[in-house]
Parts: sequence; C-alpha cells; structure tokens
Amino acid sequence: MATQLDGKRIASEIRDEITQRVTLLLDEGKRAPHIAIILVGDDGASHTYVNAKISACKGVGFDYTLMQFARTISEEKLIKHIESLNEDEDIDGFIVQLPLPDHISVERVTEKISPAKDVDGFTNQNFGSIASENPLLLPATPFGVMELLKRYQIETKGKHCVVVGASRIAGAPLSLMLMKQGLATVTICHKYTENLAQHTRQADILLVAVGRPGLITRDMVKEGVVIVDIGTTRIEDPERKTGFRLAGDVDFKEVEPLASHITPVPGGVGPMTIASLLLNTLKAYENGNQ
Ligand code: GUN
Repeated sequence: MATQLDGKRIASEIRDEITQRVTLLLDEGKRAPHIAIILVGDDGASHTYVNAKISACKGVGFDYTLMQFARTISEEKLIKHIESLNEDEDIDGFIVQLPLPDHISVERVTEKISPAKDVDGFTNQNFGSIASENPLLLPATPFGVMELLKRYQIETKGKHCVVVGASRIAGAPLSLMLMKQGLATVTICHKYTENLAQHTRQADILLVAVGRPGLITRDMVKEGVVIVDIGTTRIEDPERKTGFRLAGDVDFKEVEPLASHITPVPGGVGPMTIASLLLNTLKAYENGNQ
C-alpha cells in the first residue's frame, strides 16, 4: 500500500510555524502581515477558494482585505486597483483570484502586480526568478508541491520527474523548480504529447496538472512511482451537501496499489498551495520590513 502524502497535515504544520512567527512579531510590537485578495465576479469555485484562503489567513493571525468587484469591471479599473495596492504600504502582498471574465486579459493584469507583492508568484519576473539563485516569490502551487516532497524526504535529485501539463500556474513553473531547486531530470508532457503513456511509465516521480479526471491509469505508471496529483475538477454529486466532489487527474483506486507514495484529492496539493501563499506573504512582509 502506498504512503499517502498528507498535504492537509503538512499544511497544518506550516500554519503552526507561521502562527508562532506572527505571535513573535506582535510581541515585538510589530504589525501582522497583511494580504489583499481581489475577487472578480461570482464564480462559485473562486468563492470557495477565496473563503479557504481567508480562513487560513485568519488562522495564522494575518490581516486580510477582500476586494470584490462585479464581473463587469473594466480591465482599466481593475488595473487602477492593482496599482493602488502596489503603492499601499500597509499591504505586504496580494492576489487576483483566477479565472477573470473573458474581457480582461490575465497576462496584462498579472503583469501590473509588483513582483515584490506577487504572493501567488504569477508575474513573469517571479516565474523567471525560479532559475535564479535567489528566487523572489515562488509560484504557490509548485512551491507547495516541492515543500510536500521535501517534508516527506522524497529525493528529487537525479530522479526522473515526468510532469504532465505545462500551464503557466502549475506545470511550467513546477518543471523549472524540479530542474533548478530539485536537481531532477525533467520530462514535460502536454496536450500535444504523442504516446503519453510511454513517457509517464518512465517516471520515478509523476506529477500531473491537467484537469482531466482519470487521465492516469494503471497501465501508465511503473511500480514504486511517487504520484503527485495536482488536478482538481469539480464533479456534480447530488449526494454531497455542496452538490459536487473534487476529482484529481489520477485514477487513485487503480494506481495507488502500484505507487510508493501518492497524494489524495482532496487533501494533497490543495492545502499546500494555500500554505505556500501564507509563506510567500510572510516573506513579502519580511522583505519589505528589513
Ligand atoms: N485560480 C485557481 N488557482 C488559483 C491560484 O492558485 N491563485 C489564484 N489567484 N487564482 C487561482
């Protein structure tokens, strides 16, 4: 039976460490770190994620400001708000929850965020800084994955990591982090990859971030593989109170018996992304208060 990589437990440990740090700051008469969250429109999943982020911030003693805008807000107005957050000395970091409505360019908006306050690690500068010796703020999801592997003492150095998915917020930065910080040999697969299984079967560590439930089946992995499932797709489930359940990209039941370690969905990578957001906010605070 595979060891489950319990992101919920590790994230809780990280939150305890942050809470201790915040308590020390307050004891020294300093203010708490302060994050702002921009939420545009009424996407149900975004509201759920933002609520989870706010409750994590409250839990560790951070201050937070939620800025909600109608889905009709113009790109220009949204950018004005971002510029004022960049200037606001009381705000250490902020995020713009994605997705944004179609009339707003994610790239144009993201690029207006000051890299020093970009606690999601989405800007091109923070993406590029993964390759530097001293990264500024690491993209939150890949940062959470690396931290999860580290805390379970899973060696990446010299290992063959196969990343499925090359998105700008997960697969692409994760591949770079595995190569630079993790010193791994990395194969990156995406939706145009031919014969996906031929690649995934080579993986010592298989990391999947596609958003296609059940994509990875038993015949696509080798025995002893470490599986990190970053997929979170909402599937309608009338039996649940919420009306949906979350599904990863890996067929857990089929693959788990072959794996040495595997992340559950939910409770694997998701909580680690939020923990990374908190770590980045603390870092942004400390960078700004030296
Ligand atoms: N939408 C889905 N995941 C994320 C995330 O990590 N950050 C933000 N800002 N939006 C998201």
